[in-house]
Amino acid sequence: MFKKKKKEEKDLEIIDIENEPDKKVLIEFKDVCKKYEQGDNVFYALKDASLTINEGEMVVILGPSGAGKSTLLNLLGGMDSASSGHILFDGKDLTTFNDNQLTEYRAKNVGVVFQFYNLIPTLTAYENVALMRDIKDGTSDPKEALAAVGLSEHMHQFPSQMSGGEQQRTSIARAVAKNPKLLLCDEPTGALDTDTGKEVLKLLQDMSREKKRTVVMVTHNSFFADIADTVIRVKNGGIKSIVHNDDPKDASEVNW
Ligand SMILES: Nc1ncnc2c1ncn2[C@@H]1O[C@H](COP(=O)(O)OP(=O)(O)O)[C@@H](O)[C@H]1O
Ligand SMILES: [Mg+2]
Repeated sequence: MFKKKKKEEKDLEIIDIENEPDKKVLIEFKDVCKKYEQGDNVFYALKDASLTINEGEMVVILGPSGAGKSTLLNLLGGMDSASSGHILFDGKDLTTFNDNQLTEYRAKNVGVVFQFYNLIPTLTAYENVALMRDIKDGTSDPKEALAAVGLSEHMHQFPSQMSGGEQQRTSIARAVAKNPKLLLCDEPTGALDTDTGKEVLKLLQDMSREKKRTVVMVTHNSFFADIADTVIRVKNGGIKSIVHNDDPKDASEVNW
C-alpha cells in the first residue's frame, strides 16, 4: 500500500512538470537599485525592485513618464547595470557579468523593439533583418521572419518606403529572427495610430502565446494591462504592484 502511494506521488510530480512547462522562472530581480549621483544628490531611477518573470509570459510594465520603466527594461536586457541588488537570468546573475559576458548575453538572449523602430535607413527590410546573422548563430531565415509579421510583399522596400506599422513589424521581425529567449519592447506602439498599434500588440501577444517567447512590454497606456499575463506597475522608481491576469484579453479586443 505504502509503495503504491509512493508511486502515485511520483507520477503526479512528473505530470505537474509536463503540464506546466511555462511556469519556469526566467528572470528574477532581487532588491535592484539604479541610482544616479550628482555631487551630494543621489537620485534613484529604480529603488529596491524585486520581481519574477516566468518563461513564455507576456508582461506589461505600466507607469507614468519618468517612473523608471525604461530603466527596468534596460537592466533586464543587460543594456544598463544595476547599482546594487541581483538580476538572475536562467539562474545566472547578470550583476556579476563582465562586459564580454554582458555582450554575449545580449547577443544570444535579448531582442529589443523601440518606439521609433531604429531601422537602418539605407538597408531594405530584408537586409535589416538579415543583419542579425552577423550577431548570432542560428537566426531564422529573414524571409521567414518577415513572412511571420505579414511583410513578404514589402521585404525589398527601404524604411522610408514603408508605413510606421510596417517599419515596426520589420523591427519586430528583426528582434525575433534572433530567436531570443526574451523580447523587450519599449513603448512599441507609441508612434502608431490605434489600428496599427493593435496589429503590433497582437503580433507581440502571438509571440508569447504561440511561439512561447517571454515578452516584456513597457507602456504608459493602462489599457494594455488587459492583454498581459502579468502587470507590473511602477511609480517614482518603485514597484507599486504585480498582478497576474488569469484570463488576459485578446490584443484585438483592446481599445484606447
Ligand atoms: N542616465 C541618466 N542620468 C540621470 N538620470 C537618468 C538617467 N536615465 C534615466 N534617468 C532618470 O531616471 C528616471 C526614470 O527614467 P526612465 O526609466 O527613462 O523613465 P520612464 O521610462 O518610465 O519614462 C527619470 O527621472 C530619468 O530622468
Ligand atoms: Mg521610457
